[in-house]
Amino acid sequence: MAGRDHLTIVDHPLVQHKLTLMRDKDTPTAVFRQLLREISMLLAYEVTRVLPMTTKPVETPLTEMDAPILSGRKLALVSILRAGNGLLDGMLDLIPSARVGFVGLYRDEETLQPVQYYCKLPEALDRRLTIAVDPMLATGNSSAAAVSLLKEAGAKDIRFLCLLAAPEGVARMKEAHPDVPIVTAALDDRLNEKGYIVPGLGDAGDRMFGTK
Ligand code: URA
Repeated sequence: MAGRDHLTIVDHPLVQHKLTLMRDKDTPTAVFRQLLREISMLLAYEVTRVLPMTTKPVETPLTEMDAPILSGRKLALVSILRAGNGLLDGMLDLIPSARVGFVGLYRDEETLQPVQYYCKLPEALDRRLTIAVDPMLATGNSSAAAVSLLKEAGAKDIRFLCLLAAPEGVARMKEAHPDVPIVTAALDDRLNEKGYIVPGLGDAGDRMFGTK
C-alpha cells in the first residue's frame, strides 16, 4: 500500500490487475460488475485496516490462548448514488454486519453546485467508523458535499473509498475535509473538459448498470 496520510493508493497486484480489466472499453457489463465486486472486497480489506482489535480467550484443540478479534466497533458504509452502489456488494461480503446509508446528489446546472435529493443514514454515526463510497473521485464537489452531510449527521471518523481518483478531486477533498483519508486503487492523470477522469474507465454508473 503506497501513500501519504490523506491519500492511500492500494497497489496490490490483484487490485491493479482487476482495475486494468475494468478500464478496457471492451469489457462487458457483467464482467465489469463482477470485477467491481471483487475489487471492492480488496479495497474494503485495506480501508478497514484501522479497525481496533481486542483479544478473546479461545480454546484450540491443543491449548488455551488469547486470540485477536475485532473490538466490536460499529461500521457504516455510505453509498453516494448511484455508482457507489456498485462498491457495496463486495464490501458487504466482507463486512456483512455493517450498516448502510445512501446519499443522492445532483448538480444544479445553473449554480453547478451539488444539491441533495436523497439522504438515508444509519443511526449513531458519531459512534461508527463511516466509510463513504463512490467509485470515481473526479471534481470532488459531490464527494465533498456528501462528506459534509455525513458530518452534519454526526459522523466523526470518516474515510472516503473510491476506485479511481483525479488529482483535482483529491485536492478538493483535502481542502474541504483534510481530516478524511482517501483510499483508492489509482490516482489518474487529470480530468477532461467534461469532468471525466483520464485515462479513467468512462462513466462508472453506465458501465456497471449497462446504461448510456
Ligand atoms: N464519474 C464517472 O463515472 N467517470 C468519470 O470519469 C468521472 C466521474
